[in-house]
Amino acid sequence: MLQSMRIIGGKPLNGEITISGAKNLALPALVAALLSDSEIILRNVPKLADINSLLGLLEFLGCDINYLDDHSISLKTDKIKSTEAPYDFVRKMRASILVLGPLVSRFKKASVSLPGGCAIGARGVDLHIKALELMGAQISIENGYIKAQAEKGLFGCDITFPIVTVTGTENALMAAVLAKGTTRVTNAAMEPEVIAFCNLLNKMGAKIAGHGTPIITIEGVESLRGTKFEIIPDRIETGTYAIAAALTNGKLLLKNCVYDDLFTFFEALQSAGIACEKDGLNNVLVYRKEGEIRPVDIQTAPYPGFPTDLQAQYSVLMSICSGTATVTENIFENRFMHVPELNRMGANIAIHGKTVVITAVKKLFGAQVMATDLRASVSLILAGLVADGETVVNRIYHLDRGYENIDKKLTECGANIERFSV
Ligand code: UD1
Repeated sequence: MLQSMRIIGGKPLNGEITISGAKNLALPALVAALLSDSEIILRNVPKLADINSLLGLLEFLGCDINYLDDHSISLKTDKIKSTEAPYDFVRKMRASILVLGPLVSRFKKASVSLPGGCAIGARGVDLHIKALELMGAQISIENGYIKAQAEKGLFGCDITFPIVTVTGTENALMAAVLAKGTTRVTNAAMEPEVIAFCNLLNKMGAKIAGHGTPIITIEGVESLRGTKFEIIPDRIETGTYAIAAALTNGKLLLKNCVYDDLFTFFEALQSAGIACEKDGLNNVLVYRKEGEIRPVDIQTAPYPGFPTDLQAQYSVLMSICSGTATVTENIFENRFMHVPELNRMGANIAIHGKTVVITAVKKLFGAQVMATDLRASVSLILAGLVADGETVVNRIYHLDRGYENIDKKLTECGANIERFSV
């Protein structure tokens, strides 16, 4: 049954929201369990549809999975049942491509369906494939599957990514940790999730250096051991709720988040007149400093730039600012699917190639809108929170892929929002 969300807008959000673990770290961290025959325990794993999809795939491959509590998972892959990631798993989530590297490095072969996932541009996996080929894997595409083999194992080499790819870097890392010799990844992703992922692999016995810089060096080892590891807070969830506070003219204390991992985003918000104050080690307090929100142009870029995953939400904020702002999307093509829906709610956003020009309006109005991809969906929820009247966001299953208990978290801060089935 399809679910929708009904929101009556206009209520300022006040109170506290505890940020969940980062989806974009939890996914590769779960996959890393394929690299070892010992137990990996992950804590602070968010409860999300994407996590469930991936756990389904890992179980299919032969991983023993046990929930120790709501957010702690034990994984052990002492024997493998299959080295094939079938279409039915992979089509639900593009990040399933992450199993390619560890399957080839530990089990010498893999067959992974070409992924589906968010409909935001071409999002090829050519760079993942190229990295493995450079390490000695033989790869062909047959019937929609990537078939990879490395009978003699993988070998360290130099990999230079022409563009920054987050999961591509992670796949190369998982292939390289068990390869013979040293691998150097140049133009590697520097996202906090990638740094944390390297920390996890090192705790498992990998020899990785340089993470957090564009050049990561990996000295291959024979095998990896088990470990316990805590998932870092979700930056994108943090940023989304920060915008919710600013939009509704409320005041939210975001708990258990890392200010420095989002500093470019918080800088933009501060220029727009939004206070984003560190409160102790792990909290950020967000509220409007002045009545008005100032227009501030942004461009998305790989870390440490403005995150593409916060672009749609930021566009909602600029929709009710005091002037005209531009948002330029440099990572993905076709990531403006929220724009026509926001315009139906009264926003004035014009798309010019990879830039949108947002001319502020006095008010947004409630409407029936359709969620498309994950971040577009949450931007419609945000718009609903500040719009006059009732907004119904249909097809919200995208939201549950990336936001744990979003309706509950918002309700507890005063939002009028409810989920219903149609
Ligand atoms: C990850 C994040 C996603 C985020 C994105 C960019 C996870 C699970 N997801 O996605 O939330 O929006 O980073 O920060 O971590 N590309 C190719 N060929 C490839 C790989 C990528 O052309 O083989 C292109 C993509 O189409 C895109 C760009 O590279 O234009 C960056 O994508 P990438 O960093 O790989 O995104 P994901 O890792 O899929």
